[in-house]
Amino acid sequence: MPALPTSLWSSVARKALMALTGLALIGFLIVHLLGNLILLSGNADAFNLYSNIYASMGSFLYVIEAGLVAFFLIHIVSGITVALGKMKARPVSYKKVANAGGPSRKTVSSVTMIYTGVLLLVFLVFHVVSLKYGAHYDTTIGGEKMRDLYKLVVENFQQPYIVAGYVIIMTLLGFHLRHGFWSAFQSLGALQPRFSNMIYIIGVFIAIILAIGFLFVPIWIFLNS
Ligand code: HEM
Repeated sequence: MPALPTSLWSSVARKALMALTGLALIGFLIVHLLGNLILLSGNADAFNLYSNIYASMGSFLYVIEAGLVAFFLIHIVSGITVALGKMKARPVSYKKVANAGGPSRKTVSSVTMIYTGVLLLVFLVFHVVSLKYGAHYDTTIGGEKMRDLYKLVVENFQQPYIVAGYVIIMTLLGFHLRHGFWSAFQSLGALQPRFSNMIYIIGVFIAIILAIGFLFVPIWIFLNS
């Protein structure tokens, strides 16, 4: 059997890593959105009790967080290197973005993956710094003292420029996921042609639900607090 050229192997491996971590991160986003929907109830205690579940996990939380950071890093680094590899292979970009149809699924989403990805990374740094490591307010629920994350989130989403920023970035998240979900299955070689359309439609559905869900939360809080 002829040996696989190193460059081909590494590009395939990087794409597979990008796909697996991307799918795992979509799983994280679904759980994250479900937790954030508690904010819509306006019940501060319910949200704080929910977010405190993570804090009470102790050192196990560090394991989860280390895994999450590793998944984000692997996804970002493999994504950037795959995109740079493509640019090197085709230095002159196509003039027009049109849906090429068939198996390529070339759309605005697909050719902007690296740009939406980089903007999401910038958002992520801002998001984690402003919430996870943001102001530490305290509250007491049932005699137990815990972090009042609800107060901080509401304070953030009372700023129109922050809400506008979230709406823009969550729309970009939708575009990123729209192509990313289908592309992950493609990269893993798990797509038989007859499933291609179905996976693409599921990806569009997930992208719309996550984008609308995440952009609805800040708008709702802005309008109701
Ligand atoms: C409505 C939109 C969102 C809200 C209200 C929200 C809320 C929060 C809050 C309150 C935290 C701090 C959790 C804690 O310290 O216990 C957090 C952390 C985090 N969020 Fe979001 N989030 C939103 C959207 C997103 C999106 C779209 C992403 C990814 C693209 C994301 C990724 C993260 C990550 C990675 C963390 C750190 C998790 C950890 O290490 O514990 N969030 N978010």
